[in-house]
Amino acid sequence: MKREVARGSGGRVIIVDSITQLAPDDAGAIVVCGSHGGTSAGSFALEVPLAAVFFNDAGVGKDRAGIAALAMLQARGVPAGAVAHTSARIGDAQDAWDNGVVSHVNAAARALGFAPGARLGAVLAERVARSRDCVAPQAHGPGAATPATPAVPKSPAASTSQDPYYLPDLAWIHHVGYGHHVERVHSAIADLLRNAGVATGARVLDVGCGSGLLARELVAAGFEVHGIDASPAMIDLARESVPTATFEVLALPVRAGVGLEADRARGPATAGEAGLPAADAIVSTGHVLNYLDSREEIAVALAQLARALCPGGVIAIDLMTEAYCRTRDTVPVHAKVEDDWAIVTRFSRPAPVRYDRDITVFRRIDNQWRRSDEHHRNVTFDADEAVRILRENGVEAEVRASFGSESLPAGLVVVTGTRRAERA
Ligand SMILES: C[S@@+](CC[C@H](N)C(=O)[O-])C[C@H]1O[C@@H](n2cnc3c(N)ncnc32)[C@H](O)[C@@H]1O
Repeated sequence: MKREVARGSGGRVIIVDSITQLAPDDAGAIVVCGSHGGTSAGSFALEVPLAAVFFNDAGVGKDRAGIAALAMLQARGVPAGAVAHTSARIGDAQDAWDNGVVSHVNAAARALGFAPGARLGAVLAERVARSRDCVAPQAHGPGAATPATPAVPKSPAASTSQDPYYLPDLAWIHHVGYGHHVERVHSAIADLLRNAGVATGARVLDVGCGSGLLARELVAAGFEVHGIDASPAMIDLARESVPTATFEVLALPVRAGVGLEADRARGPATAGEAGLPAADAIVSTGHVLNYLDSREEIAVALAQLARALCPGGVIAIDLMTEAYCRTRDTVPVHAKVEDDWAIVTRFSRPAPVRYDRDITVFRRIDNQWRRSDEHHRNVTFDADEAVRILRENGVEAEVRASFGSESLPAGLVVVTGTRRAERA
């Protein structure tokens, strides 16, 4: 059985008992299928560019094999979810449409507002009837220029479900008291870029640029730097301290319609992905990608960075792997006290891939001490997986122990790569 059950300015919904029944003219549809969400179903779903797809979770099962497709689709930026096998019969798309209750969603679907517990049919029917935040058909699939990116209302805050990181006082303390990492790596990064053929005046995108510590050094080395960061306080500091670079508040992974400021200022991009300006080089220090909500989000962000690189462009980023956390489990508290500020950090590992910090800072303002607290979640990521994702997205990448000859903390690794030239 296969039929269209809803259509509106927000798209159309097709229900299909088996995902194998999809055809090329289903491209752009939202699909609700009766199939399990295993890897084979994921492969079939990726054959046709869909706006979103929902499976039956089949009880989830050993190693979550029943919903493995959600991560596969996430890696390509496609919103996907599953309904509980207890709410709808497996193999019966009509039952999923009439009675299915969402049990799992990937990050792209979550960003569109899908959440466990919702009645799938009701949510989709309402969504396609509205145009404002529709699930837009996306161009993706083998050979496409960019992976699909979900459409969401324009708001940088839409890109993270976490509390904001680096509010003004912690941003300032990072700026004045935590420059040692950039100090250690900046000349190696400048050398790496030059040795890879990135010329003076080339456009360097500094991802998670913080207060501009690295941007300042790269501008001094002759590059044209544009920094992006999720923290408005960091961007304020960066603009103040490096007026010769450009900066914007932008959180990864980038959603369609967000952060196009820079693209507009630079004119049409030759490369570029969903609001990221095209770049001759992309750099990132301070394990920025590990601040993302999940490994799925990190995978999407890596693919976006790869596709923002111009042909021949170079990427060099550092990444926190599991090994980084293992060596630090025994250090429960870090503290630093200066004349006009102090910081206390408590570490925890609330889940196997997580490395969290509760950070309390005090700052003396007009002889009064002001306290603020932040909870930082970091998600570790496998360096070989990062290399695989970059390669899949056109970048020949490798893992290194450092940017140059500097020595980095154990488990903080560097991933570098060069975007392959486009085929003629
Ligand atoms: C440890 S700081 C490093 C800052 C800077 N790169 C440096 O080395 O000084 C991590 C930075 O990542 C930024 N960040 C966290 N999540 C982000 C996201 N989703 N997108 C962009 N930046 C993010 C934070 O605001 C912060 O500035």
